Amino acid sequence: MSRFKAVIFDLDGVITDTAHYHYLAWKRLAESEGVPFDLAFNEQLKGIDRMGSLDLILAGAPKTYSPGQKQALADLKNRHYQDLIAGMSASDLLPGAVDALAAVRAAGLRIGLASVSRNAFTVLDRLGIRERFDIVVDAALIANSKPDPEIFLTAARLLGVAPIDCLGVEDAVAGVAAIKSAGMLALGIGSAEVLTEADLVIPGLDHFELSGLFA
Ligand code: G6P
Ligand code: MG
Repeated sequence: MSRFKAVIFDLDGVITDTAHYHYLAWKRLAESEGVPFDLAFNEQLKGIDRMGSLDLILAGAPKTYSPGQKQALADLKNRHYQDLIAGMSASDLLPGAVDALAAVRAAGLRIGLASVSRNAFTVLDRLGIRERFDIVVDAALIANSKPDPEIFLTAARLLGVAPIDCLGVEDAVAGVAAIKSAGMLALGIGSAEVLTEADLVIPGLDHFELSGLFA
């Protein structure tokens, strides 16, 4: 029997490698505005909503922007991103993702998705996995982006499970912080050197083993 009653997954960078597409789209935008952009800078954008990410990037720009100019840049980044995800299919699921979702389901646990992306449903549909989640919380349902715990607390509430009985799964520093502030255990996906606040870190969902983790 699992010690958890629900598992709440992040999407980008956990279930599929859209984190890389966000990176490519932001890099194209940042460099067109004269802002240097690399993978290290991108790390702090993971899990941060679109306008919050743009603000972080433009803080390094040589000029200032009006709200209208910022909205136009956010829209442009989203068009770059949508071009990149246009050809996605089930073949873009990361190794172990479907098996992890199936294992959680087989163990009788509830399954949630918590993504601040306004493209989350599009990506879920392209991957063909929307129906594998009992609930999906995206940007439309929350006011505060990660690292605020709101998205994970909303997911737990909609699942009808107490936060303490939830496991959160995240690849972002801000996402792990959100899980911990929500009072949940955090499984990091990636590197333990980056995700220092996570309770446990595995390189990918191909290392996910519900009964073995946190035993
Ligand atoms: C996820 C990603 C972020 C992205 C955010 C908003 O949290 O990790 O990199 O900025 O979603 O995505 P959106 O598709 O709404 O621009
Ligand atoms: Mg992520």
